[in-house]
Amino acid sequence: MTDHILIERAGETGAINVIRFNRPDKKNAITRDMYSTMAKALSDGETDDSVRVHVMLGTPGAFTSGNDMQDFMAVAMGGAKGTEVFDFLTALATVNKPVISGVKGLAIGIGTTIHMHCDLTFATPDSRFHTPFVDLALVPEAGSSLLAPAVMGHQKAFALLAAGIPFTGEDAAHAGLIYRTVSADELEPAVFAAAEHLAAKPPKALAISRRLVKPDPDAVVARIREEGEHFAAQLKSAEALAAFQAFMARKK
Ligand code: COA
Repeated sequence: MTDHILIERAGETGAINVIRFNRPDKKNAITRDMYSTMAKALSDGETDDSVRVHVMLGTPGAFTSGNDMQDFMAVAMGGAKGTEVFDFLTALATVNKPVISGVKGLAIGIGTTIHMHCDLTFATPDSRFHTPFVDLALVPEAGSSLLAPAVMGHQKAFALLAAGIPFTGEDAAHAGLIYRTVSADELEPAVFAAAEHLAAKPPKALAISRRLVKPDPDAVVARIREEGEHFAAQLKSAEALAAFQAFMARKK
């Protein structure tokens, strides 16, 4: 466990399972420990009957800058990849309770693709959704290659995931990637109001309705696995190592 992820139960009856990135000095970059902590928090929330909804948040300026580049570098240099990312993504793709997210600022890499699993995402208009996978010699992950075209069509999905063109919060709302934009001051109140709204509903009917409007979770997990095989191979490529080294050396 790590305090780089904060977990709390919010709401009058503790029905809101809040998972918050809390590594602001690194723009909330996600380490393997952080993935493990989030997977456990989701699983704990799923089995706790008092929890009705999961909420994912960041800190001012950053939801998350994505996977920790040092961890990418370690794998590129021959280290083991581990299952933490896959375990987290599987947990996220298979939860039965709704997930609400709030973005104020950077949402890079998995910081963008997480929201494709969420049910309501609020973001500030100037937030930055960016998946520079190909620039890092990597490929789309988190089931995004299946989920993004379904919500925004091929061209916007290609622009985001393959061309690596950043979307503002406004762009993301227009594309259907997120529910709506709100001002920075209103962001967390809007997230918690939506969470209270859902927490008050009959949970079984909500869970069934949610499952009916979402893609088949087995297909999503299968795509996460397929993407993961390409991702793992690319992580070990010379072009990926060069991209990670360029990031590390950019301030020198
Ligand atoms: N992994 C590890 N550290 C990261 C990080 C990441 N994904 N993103 C940011 N950081 C660290 C920086 O190294 C820096 O640390 P330092 O102060 O010890 O040097 C700190 O967070 C602040 O980042 P900085 O680059 O100085 O801030 P910025 O506002 O100029 O740029 C980003 C922010 C997010 C645009 C830039 O850091 C970036 O491009 N990060 C990589 C994002 C990425 O490619 N993620 C993987 C996607 S698959």
